[in-house]
Amino acid sequence: MDLHTDVLIGEVVRVFDTTLRDGEQTPGIAFTLEEKLEIARQLDKLGVDAIEAGFPISSDEELTAVKRIAEAGLDSTICGLARVVREDIDACIDAGVDMVHIFVSTSDIQREHTIKKSRDEVCNISVESVEYVKDRGLECLFSAMDATRTDPDYLIKIFKLVEAAGVDAINIPDTVGVASPSFMYNLISKIREEISVPLDVHCHNDFGLAVANTVMAVEAGARQVQVAVNGIGERAGNANLAEVVMSLHSIYGARTGIRTRYLYETSKFLERLCGMHILPNTPIVGENAFSHESGIHAHGVIEESATFEPGIMTPEMVGHRRRIVVGKHTGAHAVAEKLEEIGIEVTKEQLDEILSRVKELGSKGKMVTDADLYTIAEVVLREIGKQEQVLRVKELSVMTGNVLTPTAVVRAVVHGEERAVAEIGVGPVDAALNAVKSLIGEFETVKLRDLRIDAITGGSDALADVMIAVEDEEGRIVSARGVRDDIVIASVDALVSGINRLSLLKKKVD
Ligand code: KIV
Ligand code: ZN
Repeated sequence: MDLHTDVLIGEVVRVFDTTLRDGEQTPGIAFTLEEKLEIARQLDKLGVDAIEAGFPISSDEELTAVKRIAEAGLDSTICGLARVVREDIDACIDAGVDMVHIFVSTSDIQREHTIKKSRDEVCNISVESVEYVKDRGLECLFSAMDATRTDPDYLIKIFKLVEAAGVDAINIPDTVGVASPSFMYNLISKIREEISVPLDVHCHNDFGLAVANTVMAVEAGARQVQVAVNGIGERAGNANLAEVVMSLHSIYGARTGIRTRYLYETSKFLERLCGMHILPNTPIVGENAFSHESGIHAHGVIEESATFEPGIMTPEMVGHRRRIVVGKHTGAHAVAEKLEEIGIEVTKEQLDEILSRVKELGSKGKMVTDADLYTIAEVVLREIGKQEQVLRVKELSVMTGNVLTPTAVVRAVVHGEERAVAEIGVGPVDAALNAVKSLIGEFETVKLRDLRIDAITGGSDALADVMIAVEDEEGRIVSARGVRDDIVIASVDALVSGINRLSLLKKKVD
């Protein structure tokens, strides 16, 4: 049995993005005018066909934002939302949009409880609105709000009327996210038999089915999808742009205008702007989407990535990256590969010891970062195999206070020779690090690229956890860590370990 259906191979599907309209209706999200412009530019770079820029009648600020986006000279079609009401459509026209998206409730429950209009009245105002938009030379998209809970015969009746009035495309929203994929397929198939203009779908994610329903609608004949970056939108959100697009591309072989290499970047960009973080296991753009920890998987992926990844979608295709993560489930292969990446070669005995220490940390529920792995490796290499160190500190003393300039004196063995220096700094840590840099300075230039100090547990006796990144003259950067109850010694430990690691790398290259 073939895994994939060929019904969509080569078919073109338009992507209508509603991040700025339905997406902004997410509880807790509100974009400033400048942010809206930035998002619109990013969506344009991504290649969406249409950007629903907002609902211009809703406020003066919204109208201005839609206007600024419409004036921004983007390639995407700019759309404004309007009820089937003249003033709403006029606000869209004032904003200078290319397309007006008019919507009206068609389900009995919404008609009776919200707009309080009969079925015939809804038909009439819909037709009048489509004609009004078309008479002004704009593109018109018509949405039957709550279509999936609307009597299908009535739905087809109203669609035939707006089609006759000249509408350009018809949207079938699953407004409260209650459709099942098979229901969606059948509904779109039925409408497709009766209606000739392009069909569009807008699915909400109340049951987590928005992407499945959108894709099924396309299988049944819809040729435009309404989506939002990171799936933001009312309640549980809209269909996720990256998931819909990559399913269409990679599983179905359909085509869209999306430059998929910007999908990860766009997701990160939106995350930063709206402050709503996606889960690490989010498909395609989540941090774990192409990460492998288990020994069997990591081993497989190192040999051939398609063993434990879809293969039809790679991290490169979506602008993401593959990561081999070390932890409780890690195997020797992955650890060796990671160490090799930074030029550390280990014997079988050393590797077994490193692996057992990594697993021990992982089984305590601790995340093992790359810096942790390198520190473990370094300690093990020193213990087993007597790894030669270019720098070994023998004595360190620091004087500080409010009447003297912080001064550090360090005695160390550098490339086999014992030396001592004194240096000053803006504080005791700075003075000590300056002294270490000055000791090694005669042999190599080391730049401090990053220094972060955290306290593990509270209190004045807390352990200081120091992370350092150092760079050599060739631009190689390594991170190292020092954990001690004395912040100065922890910082010196981290720097010394970074310098020794850089020299290991250098040796490997030489
Ligand atoms: O969910 C919905 O029905 C909508 C319409 C405005 C298309 O957002
Ligand atoms: Zn919606």
